Amino acid sequence: MAHRIPWIIKYRPRKVEDVVDQDQAKKILIPWIEEWASNRIPSKRAVLLWGPPGVGKTSLVEALARTYGFEVVELNASDFRRKQDVERIVGVAATRRSLFKKGYIILLDEVDGIAGREDYGGVEAINRIIDYTKNPIVMTANDPWNDKLRSLRMKVSMIQFRPLGKRDVMSVLKKICSIEKLFCEDQALSYIVDKAEGDLRAAINDLQNVGEGYGKVTFDLVVNLVRERYKSIDIFKTLTRIFYARYGWVAKNAVSNSEVDYETVMAWINDNMPRKLGDPRDLYRGFDSLSRADVMLSRAKFKTAWELLSYVFDYLGPGIAFARKYGPVKKERFGYPEKIKLMGRSKEVRGTRERLARLVGQKIHESRRKVKSEVLPYLTVIFRYSQEPSIPARLAIELELEDKMIDFLAGGRSKEIKETMESLRYGTEAGEKSQQKLTGKASTGESKRRPGRRRKPSKDTRFKPLF
Ligand SMILES: Nc1ncnc2c1ncn2[C@@H]1O[C@H](COP(=O)(O)OP(=O)(O)O)[C@@H](O)[C@H]1O
Ligand SMILES: [Mg+2]
Repeated sequence: MAHRIPWIIKYRPRKVEDVVDQDQAKKILIPWIEEWASNRIPSKRAVLLWGPPGVGKTSLVEALARTYGFEVVELNASDFRRKQDVERIVGVAATRRSLFKKGYIILLDEVDGIAGREDYGGVEAINRIIDYTKNPIVMTANDPWNDKLRSLRMKVSMIQFRPLGKRDVMSVLKKICSIEKLFCEDQALSYIVDKAEGDLRAAINDLQNVGEGYGKVTFDLVVNLVRERYKSIDIFKTLTRIFYARYGWVAKNAVSNSEVDYETVMAWINDNMPRKLGDPRDLYRGFDSLSRADVMLSRAKFKTAWELLSYVFDYLGPGIAFARKYGPVKKERFGYPEKIKLMGRSKEVRGTRERLARLVGQKIHESRRKVKSEVLPYLTVIFRYSQEPSIPARLAIELELEDKMIDFLAGGRSKEIKETMESLRYGTEAGEKSQQKLTGKASTGESKRRPGRRRKPSKDTRFKPLF
């Protein structure tokens, strides 16, 4: 393959004039940036660029920055999920002066990506930062109408981006054909333009796939190869296209257009390869390719050498597709990778651990970090190994632990401890009184005491305050 860099990167607009169409958006954005550039603060400190993918939202921001001499601090959805990260990165950038440039443009790309998640803190934090930022904040979104973005929408000026006109898409494709010295039939280009529906990213990708694969772009080729738009395809389609690919580029496209990130694609391939490749020699080649992809991806990230991504696509796409040589594709169904299941579970556990650390920290006036490193280990030992279940049970009552926290601390012993807590709570008057004294709460009396639950605890499990 002659070219390794995806053309959408190679032909990224450098200057504002390179961004085709979108005149409406430019009309609002340019004066806004000029105001910042002359050290004034416009009435809206943030803008939200919204519209379908592949129409120049991100490109225009980067081009503006270059034209007006701003540095871009770019974050995308995975970076600004957590409130702390937003405050740490965006908050700092919002008030910092750039040493050599006019200032920073803070680009929060695809903010609708955070709206769907449970961690809502990110949006709130952005909201607060907009009030005091000394640098322009630009957000982009495909769909800005999510309810969770409502408060943001009020604070920003909303700038709509529309699907690109066919003529503009065509002109960019033609320019690329001539720079690449690629033979392109007009009719073929028209076909690509029609299929792209105003999405220039999709059009350029199609052009590259055909052009690089066949050395020319003719109508016959295009009609056969550009059947549908390879946009954002889900993981099952991605896998199907990789494992059943008859052409290398189909597999490669499947990877580069997958809606999940490359690490996730790798986890899925890793677990599903044995389900699909029967012959051990095929498996060997498949895993070999997968590990090379892994190496390339970490190099690409570590050195921010994104041109290496193309190798990642090659190893994950055609590399896996053509690993199969000796055996047919097995019929077995794709399954969820263990690693992702585990991460899901451990995320929940981490959440519990964090909440527990906060709770204990509040009671004993210590930081969460200290609690995690110096208190939780002892609590775990007490909950798991103390001879008397009443000791952890009393601790759990005093600290008002949630069930999940008790499970976390006690592991297999959690049921025993919860039962002991029950009998401490409902067992004796003495128990209630001392608990009252301890938590300073008035007893809720009969309502809390369930009839028939009165169990007489053995003497030594009776509630005694610990501290
Ligand atoms: N209006 C445009 N003018 C020139 N190139 C564009 C335009 N829109 C998209 N592109 C091309 O498509 C690629 C993706 O565009 P991008 O700005 O990232 O889209 P968005 O952020 O709207 O999804 C760019 O690298 C560029 O090559
Ligand atoms: Mg974008």
